[in-house]
Amino acid sequence: MILYFSSTGNCKYAAERIAARTGDQVMSITDAWQSENFSIRPEKGESLGFVLPTYFGVLPTIVTEFLEKAELRLTEGSYVYTVDTYGFHYGNVAAELAKILRRKTGREQDADFLLQSVDNWVPNFDLTDETYVQSALDKADELLSGIIEGIVQKKRVRVKGEWPAPMLLMMKKAYKKASQTKNFTVNDSCVGCGQCAAQCPTRAITMTEGRPVWSKANCTLCLGCLHVCPKNAIAYTKATVGHGQYYNPKTTR
Ligand SMILES: Cc1cc2nc3c(=O)[nH]c(=O)nc-3n(C[C@H](O)[C@H](O)[C@H](O)COP(=O)(O)O)c2cc1C
Ligand code: SF4
Ligand code: SF4
Repeated sequence: MILYFSSTGNCKYAAERIAARTGDQVMSITDAWQSENFSIRPEKGESLGFVLPTYFGVLPTIVTEFLEKAELRLTEGSYVYTVDTYGFHYGNVAAELAKILRRKTGREQDADFLLQSVDNWVPNFDLTDETYVQSALDKADELLSGIIEGIVQKKRVRVKGEWPAPMLLMMKKAYKKASQTKNFTVNDSCVGCGQCAAQCPTRAITMTEGRPVWSKANCTLCLGCLHVCPKNAIAYTKATVGHGQYYNPKTTR
């Protein structure tokens, strides 16, 4: 079983490629969360993979909340691994996941794999830069091939958190502050198609009189609404204006 969370396709693509090689079943955390399916029970001897993005150096809040609610059963001897996708700093995703697994199942994962890919944090990165996007995608593809072999061989390799505790605390605070939906605006090119609302994993957007309204005070900050909009009408602070949109071209939404 391979659990993934993905907003712009990097994790989805990685999960799909791993599944194509291992034959394991793929499960979207967004789908599981929205259908309130909190049961994670791999078959006897079946591997369990977590393919997750790094948000502010930690797990997306929706993933933490899902795992806290999840009924996690690990069978004796099952191989458990993480694939952490990130742009430039992988942070402490694997270490944070290890803490949750230890608390809920009494054991940690066997392996952590780091998959550097396109950084979809569009406030900081200009994703109209095709040279950057293409080179990051090519590099990710090559890295992923090695990771898949590692998973097939049940390699045991652990990754330590990148940030020390005080820095991690700062990152978590920054993530919480940044997750306020008041940072989103929509301009007049919006055609009211509702794709932003449909995309939102936390159901934080409602369509009101043909326009998106961020109806919850906070969200998981996946930026899926911004990246999916066919008119690029959504901004997250002024910093995203002119920075384009992204979805991994090797998979579909
Ligand atoms: C809110 C947010 C915070 C992010 N923080 C980091 C970060 O701390 N370090 C990093 O390298 N990438 C960061 N990223 C980039 C993503 O981790 C990266 O692009 C990931 O591959 C996206 O996966 P997806 O395409 O499956 O959604 C962040 C992205 C978002 C949306
Ligand atoms: S996806 Fe874009 S165009 Fe469609 S409703 Fe949302 S903001 Fe408007
Ligand atoms: S409002 Fe946008 S950024 Fe926030 S969780 Fe929904 S889709 Fe993601």
